[in-house]
Amino acid sequence: MCGIVGILGKSAVAEKVVESLRRLEYRGYDSAGVATLEHGHLEVCRAEGKLKNLEHKLDKHPMGGHSGIGHTRWATHGKPSERNAHPHATKRVAVVHNGIIENFRELKAQLEAEGVAFKSDTDTEIVAQLVDRQLLAGKGPVAAVAAVLPRLKGAFALGFLFDGEADLMIAARRGSPLAIGYGDGEMFLGSDAIALGPFTDRISYLEEGDWAVLTREGVEIRDETGRIVERPIQKVPAGALLVDKGNHRHFMAKEIYEQPEVIAHTFSHYLDLAAETVSLPELPFDLAQIQHISITACGTALYAGAVAEYWLERFARVPVSTDIASEFRYRETPLTPGGLTIVISQSGETADTLASLRYAKECGQKVLAVVNVPTSTIAREADAVLPILAGPEIGVASTKAFTCQLATLACLSVAIGRAKGLLSQDDEHRLVRAFMEVPRLMTEALKLSPEIEVLSRTLAKAQDVLYLGRGTNFPLALEGALKLKEISYIHAEGYAGGELKHGPIALIDETMPVVVIAPHDRIFDKTVSNMEEVAARGGKIILVTDPKGADEAHVDAVQKLILPEMPATVCPMVYSIPVQLIAYHTAVIMGTDVDQPRNLAKSVTVE
Ligand code: F6R
Repeated sequence: MCGIVGILGKSAVAEKVVESLRRLEYRGYDSAGVATLEHGHLEVCRAEGKLKNLEHKLDKHPMGGHSGIGHTRWATHGKPSERNAHPHATKRVAVVHNGIIENFRELKAQLEAEGVAFKSDTDTEIVAQLVDRQLLAGKGPVAAVAAVLPRLKGAFALGFLFDGEADLMIAARRGSPLAIGYGDGEMFLGSDAIALGPFTDRISYLEEGDWAVLTREGVEIRDETGRIVERPIQKVPAGALLVDKGNHRHFMAKEIYEQPEVIAHTFSHYLDLAAETVSLPELPFDLAQIQHISITACGTALYAGAVAEYWLERFARVPVSTDIASEFRYRETPLTPGGLTIVISQSGETADTLASLRYAKECGQKVLAVVNVPTSTIAREADAVLPILAGPEIGVASTKAFTCQLATLACLSVAIGRAKGLLSQDDEHRLVRAFMEVPRLMTEALKLSPEIEVLSRTLAKAQDVLYLGRGTNFPLALEGALKLKEISYIHAEGYAGGELKHGPIALIDETMPVVVIAPHDRIFDKTVSNMEEVAARGGKIILVTDPKGADEAHVDAVQKLILPEMPATVCPMVYSIPVQLIAYHTAVIMGTDVDQPRNLAKSVTVE
């Protein structure tokens, strides 16, 4: 979603606002803008498209104000254009906004009836106009914002700057995250702590319903009822504030290559390496008593959950249902006592996943959050949190978060199996030893990159691509198809191998590449039959397998990507690497914007 930045600084802030927005550009990149106070008066500079367009404008017309707010947009209401870019300003107030004002039509109609003329098609402008009316009526900025906030429905984060008020910025949070940064005689505001990395490591997070009045001296935070509250200042570790592509051309490439290291970190957090056991932090519920599990998430996180369903059923023999969060939240899914709901989210802010968490809590479920951002709303609202420790993920297409979610969920599945007395000590040792091998196996898998680059040239010419897998490789096929369509814009579908005959086989001809994810396992020969069905119809197969699988796949027109042999449980983690590299190289060949693909945003805080 959109990114928000605010600075009350000691010198000109426009450049710093842009630097900070660059760190948030992954959240949205349809347009960007800055408002500063030039000699006490509000001035706004906005540009359609990427941040660099705004930078070019600012190069030509520099801004000198010491107070400023900025925004990078992912369009919800009103198409991406300069007129719809934030900040939205009147003579008296400028506003930046992330989220959706759900009752904006009603409010806009009221304002129009009062004679207000709107300059944009956004829901945000009504906030600027509402506050403006209050200021015109004689209220001060704080009272004006206090009067307007209760009239807004929806999920949002807001930042305000006022004409003639060089030492004042107001922020409000309802549903969308906001962080306050503390400097030395300077104060900062950002959609997340990463935005503030260059300026401070002292951060506090606004809680749901909070709003804050910032001056250079500090901040006064009020909760929804208007009561002044304290929000602890945390020292954010420097690593969490670093965003840098290193030697890589794209963040996505960097994040793919980081996986051996970050997954080692995740495993070391959840394993006792010496004892060869899983060692989770203490949880506020008894794993042995869990009767059933519901898993809910969106997109890639959902597919991580779908892999975990197989593990949980195998190791813990507990019934599991995995559900798309936007369906789960509205379906009135019956959830009986004794259930655990696992919500999975990289950002920890996804609106549908958060709503599902709240629904599960209302139904008396214990809620466990598997998140990458431990300070996120989902982490804060869950009964317990298992952080995946992947570090900031900037590429919009999720890679390392997916594999670290898998690592965390694998450890959880073993822990529940053990708690229920269904996994022997030997089984646990064997699994833990397999987990410890994953970083090495991933390093091996990365060596396939040049080969994948070559075969991606064929994929880049395709209109449609099919991905097939069985067992835990079925969700991985779904993830592979999602990854490819997200960043290369090639249409792709993932199917369970056994479903091929029930429909998708009709699509197969010589123009249709089929990626088959199939380590040699107990149902490998079934997959070979699927490949024969594809080959007989002229389909081109890319088989991702191991040496045994490669030996036994005597099928025409098969290009093989061969990974080392490994235990089945770790396959989805390691096989993710070629799946991600296929999408990455294809997108690079097609010349798309890999890190910021069209229409997408990193953190989806609206429905
Ligand atoms: C795909 C991708 C999305 C996210 C989804 C959920 O590459 O990144 O499908 O997985 O939007 O986001 P989180 O995990 O932040 O809840």
